[in-house]
Amino acid sequence: MDKQIWTDKILSKADPHFKPRWEVYNEVVQNHLCKEKVWIDCGCGNNETVEMFGQLAGQAVGIDLTNNVEFKHNFVKGDIRKLPVHSGFADLITLRFVVEHFKNSLEYLDEFKRVLKKDGKIVIITTNILSPFIFIPRAIFPHSIKNKILTSIFKVKDEDVFPTYHRLNSPGKFFELQNEFIVKEIRFISDINNTRKWMFLILLCWHKLTSIKTLNRFRTNMLVILEKK
Ligand SMILES: C[S@@+](CC[C@H](N)C(=O)[O-])C[C@H]1O[C@@H](n2cnc3c(N)ncnc32)[C@H](O)[C@@H]1O
Repeated sequence: MDKQIWTDKILSKADPHFKPRWEVYNEVVQNHLCKEKVWIDCGCGNNETVEMFGQLAGQAVGIDLTNNVEFKHNFVKGDIRKLPVHSGFADLITLRFVVEHFKNSLEYLDEFKRVLKKDGKIVIITTNILSPFIFIPRAIFPHSIKNKILTSIFKVKDEDVFPTYHRLNSPGKFFELQNEFIVKEIRFISDINNTRKWMFLILLCWHKLTSIKTLNRFRTNMLVILEKK
């Protein structure tokens, strides 16, 4: 049987309500958009999120350091620590797998605070350092070895594994921002990668175990919604 069909079958039996992290994130982003809203996708990568949902916003732009962008429409090359827009410009800032790469989170958060309108939102999806699948490799291996393991297990290119610092990657770190931002929501999401069958089975067992309320915070990914005070 084809591996994808096999994993889909098991997953639909184990948890018929399971949604992949991309789907959860996309739904939340769409729910925050309307024609009155100005949206910046920070660290947009190939700019696919703006390409998919940009038409739902009044204005939408993706910003990234890299020029290697597939969807150039509504894209600006730049550093998100110095956004090329005036203060109070945006209603929504999104960051999909970007904050784990922040070395100094305050440099970024001060800039997002400047650029957001009052009550403006930040939607973040990132890794959760409380998950053993994140903290164990981080604690044991230096970045170069971790890179090799990740590229081999998940069959991704080496340049797709950016240096990570996880400075903002726990629920507690987000609650520390409460002077500046209201934490509207933190949702823990499982990443059930099916690149390899054995990895899929381990991650599925972890997903089931972390369905228990007290263990839920140990899931691999977090979706966080912040509101500027
Ligand atoms: C793991 S990738 C995620 C890309 C995209 N958000 C996605 O989900 O496909 C992290 C991205 O953050 C970008 N990035 C990191 N630091 C940045 C900065 N200071 N300014 C702009 N982009 C940055 C990188 O260039 C990279 O494209």
